[in-house]
Amino acid sequence: MTRILPTTESVMDSSVNVPTFAVVPGNQVQQALRGRESQVMELVEGTYRAHSTGGSVNPPSYFLRFPDRPTARIIALPASIDGRVRVDGLKWISSFPDNVPAGLPRASAVLILNDHDTGYPFACLESSIISASRTAALAASAAGWLSRHRCRPSRAGFFGAGLIARYIHTYLAATGWSFDEIGVYDTCADSAAGFRGYLERSGTGGRITVHDRAERLIRSSDLVVFATSVGKPHVSDLSWFDHNPVVLHVSLRDLAPEILLASTNIVDDVEHCLRANTSPHLAEQLTGNRDFVRGTLYDVMVERVRLPREAPLVFSPFGLGVLDLAVGKYVYDEVARSGRLCLVDDFFHDLRRYG
Ligand SMILES: NC(=O)c1ccc[n+]([C@@H]2O[C@H](COP(=O)([O-])OP(=O)(O)OC[C@H]3O[C@@H](n4cnc5c(N)ncnc54)[C@H](O)[C@@H]3O)[C@@H](O)[C@H]2O)c1
Repeated sequence: MTRILPTTESVMDSSVNVPTFAVVPGNQVQQALRGRESQVMELVEGTYRAHSTGGSVNPPSYFLRFPDRPTARIIALPASIDGRVRVDGLKWISSFPDNVPAGLPRASAVLILNDHDTGYPFACLESSIISASRTAALAASAAGWLSRHRCRPSRAGFFGAGLIARYIHTYLAATGWSFDEIGVYDTCADSAAGFRGYLERSGTGGRITVHDRAERLIRSSDLVVFATSVGKPHVSDLSWFDHNPVVLHVSLRDLAPEILLASTNIVDDVEHCLRANTSPHLAEQLTGNRDFVRGTLYDVMVERVRLPREAPLVFSPFGLGVLDLAVGKYVYDEVARSGRLCLVDDFFHDLRRYG
């Protein structure tokens, strides 16, 4: 049914002109990305810059929700990248928070890559690792850009200690960040303990504290990473942010709009981020305008906006399908280069127009 593509064989079988179709499982994805954090961060940052200057097509994500399973959703993120990468595709990612108590990760995903010229899908990749990697890469990149003109944070606080928190820490550590103190807060004691164990094993140093109160975590961190699975704002006390930390609001729905309105707000993409009841979307609904958004991360990169130090600095990244595509194509190319691509024989069948 499947066969491994030897290095010498072309991905398109030219004699019969039948497009190939590959399946790339999670172990190959992990192998292709492990230890390449700096490269992935560069790729993600470059793709994000290209997106910000018109080098992509990235329509709004589509949310499939279920009346009988209100906490669950599956999101479709279609996208197309131009330029050197030239690939189209779709990430299809589920979030089922009730998986976690049952011992399964919350999120699962596949990424389909489509050929630029024919439109044919040519690969299906396990994509929870790709998604976590691109999210962590952009978060780590943002941490650098946002703290460029202020004291580099030395105390990190992870609010929500699941898979995304782990990937963000890994990317921060692999791209030059070290912390004197790392705080952890999670409403689930097992998650907090699991994350603490990961931090200890990672050997990146710094004093680790598991906090029993959210307030303590925030007050004792100058880089706060929100990565919870909460659907509605639950942090609303502005005084917790009196020390004006840099906040990576990756889970997007933790902060009450009032906190955003008192902060400097940076997003990845305004049109994407002010949707789907994210905290920035709620702030827009509350005020009737978008004036509270200072700009995008790209505006920060090209120094189009000033970032005052006298207010909390909140980055809310919606997450863009183009970033998944770029990382997915990189993984595909790496696996193809290694000669270990698993092709599904006869995936496309009956290709002669008249039989
Ligand atoms: N913006 C992006 O690009 C992007 C990309 C991927 C994931 N995410 C988001 O990141 C978040 C985390 O994803 P994950 O895969 O790590 O999920 P996860 O389920 O593995 O971890 C979430 C953690 O949050 C904890 N938690 C839940 N409610 C909490 C609360 N009130 N206070 C503190 N902790 C709480 C849970 O116990 C769990 O340990 C999700 O909301 C996901 O949608 C965002």
